[in-house]
This record gives sequence, structure tokens and C-alpha cells, in this order.
Amino acid sequence: MNDPCMPGRRAWCRHAAAAVMAAPMAGCELPDGAGVAYESWADYPDASLSPEFRLVQAAILAASPHNTQPWRFVVSATQIELWRDSDRSLGAVDPLGREQILGLGCALENLAIAAPGFGRSASIAPWPEPTEPLLVARIGLAPAEPRDHDLAATIVDRHTQRGRYVDAPLSREVEPALADLIGDLETVSLVLLQSSHERAAFRAGTIAATKAIVDDREMSDASHVWWRQTQAQIEEHRDGINIMSMGFGAGLRALGKLRGPLPQRRASIGSAIPRAPRPQPRRLAPW
Ligand SMILES: Cc1cc2nc3c(=O)[nH]c(=O)nc-3n(C[C@H](O)[C@H](O)[C@H](O)COP(=O)(O)O)c2cc1C
Repeated sequence: MNDPCMPGRRAWCRHAAAAVMAAPMAGCELPDGAGVAYESWADYPDASLSPEFRLVQAAILAASPHNTQPWRFVVSATQIELWRDSDRSLGAVDPLGREQILGLGCALENLAIAAPGFGRSASIAPWPEPTEPLLVARIGLAPAEPRDHDLAATIVDRHTQRGRYVDAPLSREVEPALADLIGDLETVSLVLLQSSHERAAFRAGTIAATKAIVDDREMSDASHVWWRQTQAQIEEHRDGINIMSMGFGAGLRALGKLRGPLPQRRASIGSAIPRAPRPQPRRLAPW
């Protein structure tokens, strides 16, 4: 099927040939997962830091929409405050800040999972000050017997999975495990798309929604702000998304690197193409 948002095969071949010839002069090489933007993984956990700062190290490895990392931390030995950084927003892509809050929740979860391993109990008070809407949570820390949480090791390994959906039934344990996580939360429910009809409808809806976003100038502009096109941009910002983090195969990544900056329309649709996961850039801790 021809996708109107993607360059055709011939266009890609032309781009590839031109890129191979131009590459030595372009100087736009983008090493995969290398450089200062990726140090937060290599440094975690830094034994020279006190437990509360190691917890912040864990928190900033969390997922966030477009890798905006919309968090700030106020740290002391007995508590950590998690603040929403409203300058790090997706604008028209996330007008209600819903995705931003989800990203902050991811940071909070990493922190809570890491705490027992560093000998701390973490008691979380969400939105503790009614007059401070940007203060998302206050986490009280107290000394505790060190023990690793079951998911502690995944903090540094976790990445967004943009690979193809696996066309196989769920293993028996998954559904009850997910239901357990939800517990008695009234506002959350579990819906599994089991039939091929449901899955086809989900696939079609996802593609249609992505095209609608790309065609919406305001949303496309807001998304593009977080797109990093060169190694220099990745190192300067240490946030956002880039061609290596999109999970393209090695061949397409190589072509993309050689080709250099993409026009906005292609960069945006590129972020919707599902492939295998890759490392992401990360800003150093903003505390
Ligand atoms: C609330 C939220 C929404 C997200 N939406 C998308 C999305 O629509 N498409 C996508 O490819 N990734 C999405 N992501 C994944 C982020 O791009 C990803 O977490 C970020 O780039 C950091 O990469 P990592 O998760 O591999 O560490 C989302 C993440 C969060 C927390």
C-alpha cells in the first residue's frame, strides 16, 4: 500500500544514493546511544551518591512523552518533592497535560521501585499542597532494611517497545497479573484486544490518528520541537526523540544518519513507525 506520508521506494533510493555521496562532507554522523546524553544509564546507580540522589537517578530513567522529561526534584535526606516542569510540555500535542502527568507518574514509579534497594521506604503523598498544582508528589523517605524490589533491575533496561506486535495469544499469567495491578481502582479497567477483528480495528485507528496528527500543522510543529536531528542537538538538549531512538532497523538508521535532517513531515510520521526498541538520549539530572 502506498502511504502518502512516506517517501516512495524510488525516492528513498535517490535519497540514499545522494546521501552516500554527500555524507563525508555533511558531518552529521549520529553514533547509536553514545555520548554524554546517554551517561545517565551508565552512571546508574552511582554508589558515590547518597540514597536520595540515587533515587532521583532512577526516576529520570523513566518513560516520558516525546522524552520531554517534564520533572524537577527538590531533594533532602528525608523527602523528595516531584515538581511538574511546565516549560517541558508538548503543547498542542498534549493540551490538557494528560501525557505529561503520565510521564511524571512513570518517574514516581521508578523512584518507588528503586527505594527499597537503597535502604529507604518511600511514602508517596500525591498533590500534597492544594495551592501548588505543580507539586505533583511529596515522597517521604525513611531508613529501611535494604532489599531489591522484583522490578529493580528493569529500571535501567526498560525502554519503549516500538517493535511489531507479536501475533500470538497472551500467556495465561499476563491477564491476572495485569488485573492484580489494577486492583480495585474504579477509574481503570483492563480491555484486551484478542480477536483479529479487534486488533485490525486498533491498527487502522492508530494509523489514521497518526496521519491526522501529521496533517495538523499546530500539532506537527509542537511535536517537531522535540525532534533531535544531529548529534550536537542530542548532546545539547539530552532529551527529545531522534532517529536512533525510533527503533528503525540498522539499514534504515544508517540511511537516515547519512541523509541528515529530515523535513518536518517525514520526521513526524517517522516517529509512528513501529520497529525494535533503541536506547534514548537523556538529559542529566535537572535538580
Ligand atoms: C504518556 C506517554 C505517552 C507516550 N506516547 C508515545 C507515542 O505515542 N509514540 C511513541 O512512539 N512513544 C510514546 N511514548 C514513549 C516515549 O517517547 C519514550 O518514553 C521516551 O522517548 C523515552 O524513551 P524510553 O521509554 O525508551 O526510555 C510515550 C511515553 C509516555 C510516558
